[in-house]
Amino acid sequence: MTDSVFSLEIDEQKLAVVTIDVPGEKMNTLRDSFADDLQALLTDAKQQSVKGMVFISGKSDNFIAGADVKMLDNVEKREDALAISELCHRAFFDMKKLPFPTVSAIHGPALGGGLEFALACDYRVCTDSDITKLGLPEVQLGLLPGGGGTQRLPKLVGLQKALEWTLTGKQIRAKQAKKSGLVDDCVPQTVLLRVAKEFALKGKAKASKPKLDRLSQLLESNPFGRNIIFKKAQENVLKKTGGHYPAPLAIIKAIRASVELDELKAYKTEAEGFATLVMSSESKSLRGIFFATTEMKKEWRNEDAPAITKTAVLGGGLMGAGIAHVSAVKAGVPVRIKDVAEQGISNAMNYSYKILDKKQKRRILSKADLQQTMNKITGTTNYSGFKHIDLVIEAVFEDLSLKQGMVADVERECQDNTIFASNTSSLPISQIAAQAARPENVIGLHYFSPVEKMPLVEIIPHEGTSQETIARIVNFARKQGKTPIVVKDKAGFYVNRILAPYVNEAANLLLAGEPIEKIDAALVEFGFPVGPLALLDEVGIDIGSKIAPILEKELGDRFKAPDAFSRLIDAKRLGRKTGRGFYLYDKKSKKVDESVYELLGVSPSPRLNKSEIAKRCVSQMLNEAARCLDEGIIASPRDGDIGAIFGIGFPPFLGGPFSYMDKLGADKVSSEMATFANYNAVFAPCAPLVAMADTGASFYQVTPVQHAKPANQQEVVQDDVTATKSPTVTTNDTDNEQLDEENTPVLATDSEEVAESDTADSSKEKK
Ligand SMILES: NC(=O)c1ccc[n+]([C@@H]2O[C@H](COP(=O)([O-])OP(=O)(O)OC[C@H]3O[C@@H](n4cnc5c(N)ncnc54)[C@H](O)[C@@H]3O)[C@@H](O)[C@H]2O)c1
Repeated sequence: MTDSVFSLEIDEQKLAVVTIDVPGEKMNTLRDSFADDLQALLTDAKQQSVKGMVFISGKSDNFIAGADVKMLDNVEKREDALAISELCHRAFFDMKKLPFPTVSAIHGPALGGGLEFALACDYRVCTDSDITKLGLPEVQLGLLPGGGGTQRLPKLVGLQKALEWTLTGKQIRAKQAKKSGLVDDCVPQTVLLRVAKEFALKGKAKASKPKLDRLSQLLESNPFGRNIIFKKAQENVLKKTGGHYPAPLAIIKAIRASVELDELKAYKTEAEGFATLVMSSESKSLRGIFFATTEMKKEWRNEDAPAITKTAVLGGGLMGAGIAHVSAVKAGVPVRIKDVAEQGISNAMNYSYKILDKKQKRRILSKADLQQTMNKITGTTNYSGFKHIDLVIEAVFEDLSLKQGMVADVERECQDNTIFASNTSSLPISQIAAQAARPENVIGLHYFSPVEKMPLVEIIPHEGTSQETIARIVNFARKQGKTPIVVKDKAGFYVNRILAPYVNEAANLLLAGEPIEKIDAALVEFGFPVGPLALLDEVGIDIGSKIAPILEKELGDRFKAPDAFSRLIDAKRLGRKTGRGFYLYDKKSKKVDESVYELLGVSPSPRLNKSEIAKRCVSQMLNEAARCLDEGIIASPRDGDIGAIFGIGFPPFLGGPFSYMDKLGADKVSSEMATFANYNAVFAPCAPLVAMADTGASFYQVTPVQHAKPANQQEVVQDDVTATKSPTVTTNDTDNEQLDEENTPVLATDSEEVAESDTADSSKEKK
C-alpha cells in the first residue's frame, strides 16, 4: 500500500487506525484512485481480523476537503460521469458492510466527498475547533453530492435540514453538527483519537432516527407532511433561481427518492442526477468560475512586499464605512477614519457595530471579540494619528480636485512610502496622481457596495505606480477577503464601463415607452439578480449622473446618459436613498412610481417582448466587454468574466460575458448587434468582435498574452498558473469567501445572497 492515501496501523486492541494523507498536497481530496486504495485497505484489514477501524487525517488542518473537481473535466460522456458516482456508491457500500465498526475522526473541513466518506462510516466524531466544518457544497458548482450524500444525510439529520444544507451548500460548525445528529460526538482535538477508538469498540451502529422537534417529526413521518416539505423546497428554489439552475431541483429529487424509493432505485436517482449535472452547461460554467478564482489567487503574489499593518480611510460615507469594516474585521488591522464631519465618523463606526452586533446576537461572535474589533476602528476630523499609516484609502466625494487635495494631504501627513489608494468609480488614476510628489504610491482600489458582501475589487495602477505598491495592494485586498482583478487605468475601468451602456440601454427603452417593471423583469429573467432600473435606484440616480459625463468625455458619446434623467435629479428622485426613483420605496416593499413617466415625458407603450429587451441591454454590455479586452483594460477573458460576475452579478450559469459570447459564437453575437445597429448606431459590433466573427475565433481560444496587458503587469512576479493545484469542491483557505455561506456569488440556490453581491456602485444594504 505504498502509493495509497491510506496507511494502516493496528493497535494492541486490534483496532485499525487508518491515516488519510494525500502525498505532496496540503489538503486531502478524493482522487480517482481512491476507490481502489480503499478496496485494498479494507481487504487488508479484513485479513488481519481487526475489531474496528478509525479514519483520521494525516494533515494538521483538514480531514478531507472534497472530491477532486478537476477529475470531472476529463469526463466526456454522461456514462463516464455516471460511472464515477456508481464507483463511489460501491466503495461506500463496501465500508458500510464491513463486519466491524468504522469511525471518522474529523478535525478541519470534511466537505463534499469528504463528508460523504464520513457518512459511510458507522460513527463520526469531530473536534470542537473553529476550523472543523462539515457540509455538502456541491450545489455551488451546479452539482449534487454523488457519493450517497443525498441518501445518507436525511437519515441522520432529517429531511428539512438535509434539504437546507444541500440546497445552500452551507458549512456546518462542530457544535451544530453534534446538536443535529450529524456527528456522534464533538470533543477537544487532544482526545479526538481516543474518543474515536471508544466508538469503534462499541460495535456496529444501530439505525437510529434523526433528532427532530415535534413539529418536524410530525411533518417528516408521513407522506402528506413530506409532500408539503418537498413542494415548499421546490417553490423556494424556483423563486430564488428563476429556474436557471438544474442542480437544486435534482437534489430535491434525489432526497425525495431517499424516502420514497427502495435503496437501489434511490441511489440510482442520485447517480443519474449527478451524471446529468456534470454534463450540464450550468455546472461547467460554475466549475469554470471556481477554477478561475483558484487560479487568480496565485497571481500577482509577492511575499516580499512589506505588509500593510495600519490603515486609514478618508471619508466615512457609505463606501468608507464598508472599507473600514473589512479592513478591521477581515484583514484585522487598525483603521483610522477621517471625515470632515463628526457625523461621518460615527456613521462609519455604527455601520461596523451593527454588522458585528448582528453576528454577536447570532452567537457567531463573542462580546469580547466584538469589542476587540471595534477597538481597531478609531476616528478623527484632522490628520491626527496618520503619521505611521501604511495605506490610506480615499472614499470622499467623486471630485477630481478634492481627491488631488487628499493626495497632497497624505503626502504631507504620512510616511514617504504610505500608499494612497483611491476608491474612485470613474476618474482615471493618472489624473488623481497628476500633482503627486510621489506618484509611485498612488493607485486605484475600486470596491463595490455593500463592501462587506461584494467579493470583487478592481486594482488600478497608473503608468507611474510602483511594482511594490501593486503587490502590497493585491496582498492587502486578499487579506480583506476580496478577489482582485488588476485593470488598466482608463475612465470607468472595467466593471462600470460595461455596466454603463447596459443601464443606458435600459433607460433608452424606458424613454421609448417600455414599462419599468417589464424592463427589470426581462433582465431578471435573463439571470441578473436585479433589473437595470432597480439597480440604478440602488446606486443612486445622482451617482450614475456624476459618472456618466466622465465616461462620455473620456470614452465617447455612447456613454451619454439621457438628458431626461436630469429631471429626476431636479425632482430629488434619486432612488432608494430618497424613497423615490423609478420605484417608490417603503420599509418593506417597492412599486413603480407611475408619476415618473410623466416627469420623463413618456407614455408607456410596450412594443418589445422581454427577450428582445434583454438582448438589447446585454448586447451593449457584451460589446463594451469586447472593447475592454481589446484595449487591454482587462488582461484576459477570464478576468472579464470574473469581474462581471463578482462585480455586477452577470449570471454565473452563463460563465460571464466572454464565456457567454463563446457559447453563442462571435458571428451570432456580432450579427445580432449589426441588426440592432439598424435603428441605433451605438449597437454596431466593435472591430475585434467583427474580426472574430470573420475568422470563427473564440475568446478563450486566444491566449491571454495576445491581448494587451494592463500597465505594469508584465514585470510583476506571477506564479505559473498552469501549475495550479487541482481545485476541490471546497477548500478551507482563508480566502475561500467565494464559496462560503456568508458570501456566495456562485451559489445558484441563494439568489438573495447573489442579489446582495451584485450591484456595482450600489448604495443598497439589505441585511
Ligand atoms: N456609492 C457607491 O456605490 C460607490 C461604489 C464604488 C466607489 N464609489 C466611490 O467612492 C467614493 C465615496 O462614495 P460614497 O458613496 O461613500 O460617498 P458618500 O457621499 O456616502 O461619502 C463621502 C464621505 O466623504 C466625506 N468627505 C467629504 N470631503 C471630505 C474630506 N475632505 N475629508 C474627509 N472626508 C470627506 C463626507 O463627509 C462623506 O462622509 C466616491 O468617489 C464614489 O464615486 C462609490
